[in-house]
Amino acid sequence: MTDQPLPIVRTVAALREAVAGLRAQGRPVGMVPTMGALHDGHISLGRIGRERGAAMVYSIFVNPTQFAPHEDFGRYPRTETADAERLASAGVCDLIWAPNGHEMYPAGFATSIAVGGPSAALETDFRPHFFGGVAIVVAKLLLQVLPDFAVFGEKDYQQLQVIKRMVADLNIPVEVVPGPTQREADGLALSSRNAYLDAGQRKIAGQLNLVLKDVIARVRNGESIEHAAAFGFGELLAAGFDKVDYLEIRDAETLAHAEDRARPLRVLAAAKIGATRLIDNMAV
Ligand code: PAJ
Repeated sequence: MTDQPLPIVRTVAALREAVAGLRAQGRPVGMVPTMGALHDGHISLGRIGRERGAAMVYSIFVNPTQFAPHEDFGRYPRTETADAERLASAGVCDLIWAPNGHEMYPAGFATSIAVGGPSAALETDFRPHFFGGVAIVVAKLLLQVLPDFAVFGEKDYQQLQVIKRMVADLNIPVEVVPGPTQREADGLALSSRNAYLDAGQRKIAGQLNLVLKDVIARVRNGESIEHAAAFGFGELLAAGFDKVDYLEIRDAETLAHAEDRARPLRVLAAAKIGATRLIDNMAV
């Protein structure tokens, strides 16, 4: 069976017309912002929208402002045709918003959004430009589509908290819905960047989620947060990761240092194998 190709719009004007058409069907409208190179993690977010009976818009835009000059913007996978086919055959999408670069950042673009709070530390210590780029592009995407809700993965947990904070602070009238992390059989979180790993590196990558589980078990057994985190950091190096950017246990909502063990906690880590940087997190 060949699936109907999905409509793709590339200008804000065409987007607004197409979303008005979806609204006219009487369903709520949901959205999933992505940078493409879609995998089952991205598809699972659309399914959450379908469970809510919504018409779904996927955006595909590799956002230059969230990459530093030395990062992988140039070689980030761009697979729009395959992405569109995947969305169509999964049945999770009604419209693709794939803006041109100059539609998103026209000449003279001069606005920035700085989110404090959950942006502090963790990713920001290693990618200081990152949440500024995410904030401006997500604010724009939400205001362009104006969906009833937008689904974001817990895979990028700090990003999810930053977006929640921004949407609340700016009164953007969109519900932020979290989606659980989708994983491979060995527990490795699905990520477009996994494609950069060779067979040996892929094996090491599969240890990241196991180490996080070990750390959680230690905290639950009463070990101090500092000890459990230091143990996990060492375990990642022992597993073959070349560099550990961080492994930390934080307050699950504010991402501040976990002072109160009675509050929900989250363990978050980022580590490199060669040039490939992987992140993961779990509820403690
Ligand atoms: P991207 O990395 O393409 O991810 C798009 C969405 O898919 C994010 O909400 C991310 O958390 C989610 N996702 C990725 N891997 C997942 C997995 N294994 N399970 C569940 N969800 C997963 O995140 C971005 O793009 C960008 O920063 C973006 C928000 C689009 C702004 O440019």
